[in-house]
Amino acid sequence: MIETPLTKLLNIRVPVVQGGMQWVGVPELAAAVSNAGGLGILTALTQPTPDALRVAIRETRKLTDKPFGVNITLLPSINPPDYAGYAKAAVDEGVRIFETAGNNPGPLIKFFKSNNCIVLHKCTTIRHAKSAARHGVDVLSIDGFECAGHPGEEDIGGLVLLARAAQELDIPYIASGGLADGRGLAAALALGAAGANMGTRFMCTVESPIHQNIKDKIVSANEQDTVHIFRTLHNTARVFKNSVSTEVVAIERRPGGAQFSDVQHLVSGQRGRKVYELGDPEYGIWSAGSCVGLIKDVQSCKELVERLEREAEEIIEGLGRLVVRKGNAKL
Ligand SMILES: Cc1cc2nc3c(=O)[nH]c(=O)nc-3n(C[C@H](O)[C@H](O)[C@H](O)COP(=O)(O)O)c2cc1C
Repeated sequence: MIETPLTKLLNIRVPVVQGGMQWVGVPELAAAVSNAGGLGILTALTQPTPDALRVAIRETRKLTDKPFGVNITLLPSINPPDYAGYAKAAVDEGVRIFETAGNNPGPLIKFFKSNNCIVLHKCTTIRHAKSAARHGVDVLSIDGFECAGHPGEEDIGGLVLLARAAQELDIPYIASGGLADGRGLAAALALGAAGANMGTRFMCTVESPIHQNIKDKIVSANEQDTVHIFRTLHNTARVFKNSVSTEVVAIERRPGGAQFSDVQHLVSGQRGRKVYELGDPEYGIWSAGSCVGLIKDVQSCKELVERLEREAEEIIEGLGRLVVRKGNAKL
């Protein structure tokens, strides 16, 4: 067993978190990850209303008696969702672990901490990590440039970002972005992290609710099959490379640039949702990290989490054997 401040804090066996994923983080997946020994996370905004989130939390409880969390992602939006309503619904339902992400998380963190919750906050810069730590979060989830979804605008890869986290942060942090196997988990631990957060890897499991065609697409993809959209709109997102994301990038690169309204019809969340429902990878925009190149199979969460644990342990033991102490040398 690998014991870290994360496993102790969350009372989980394996230091692996399944990060919040829009349209993917549903009760079946979150419960399967938690049953496997990691931390499963429900994605609040996948549910249409706070009351629907209550139902999803109850469903998850029926499927697991292990700890699980709820993700609340604060998005730039003209008509913001009822974040406070989702947060209150989850706390009322007895959830005590939250993953927050996005802009201005201060009030949300304050609400959770005043209700004795554990908060993991996802961020892509050391500056934001320190600010979230000042707000009182328990764990930082440091998302490197490789990650699916929003890597921020500073383009710092996980290696440097995590080493900087080790230098700067006084509270536990987990590594996120580009991690899909035991090697990644061991590397995260070597970089001082208390565990690993994985998104794309858990999309591609038996219990993930997305269409089999999309799982197969990920398995056959390589590490060059993602692309950044919204770079010019300063809201960068790493998504799977397909005809729609390629068109968005082409529009953004037109002389004079693009407004959001120029690409809105291509990038709607509902089109992205249909990708997973219909199994058509060309139907819209869908998030995926560059670790698609590392994913070669669709396993159950139990098989996957056990494999992550076993591989990481083997690698850590192997690294231990590299150390040669002169004092112990036999004559
Ligand atoms: C399909 C998908 C949807 C995602 N949606 C969200 C989301 O709604 N909120 C969030 O905070 N992160 C979201 N993420 C990011 C993940 O929680 C995680 O930080 C990221 O996937 C880590 O990078 P990796 O995919 O390389 O493991 C999403 C990722 C994927 C793959």
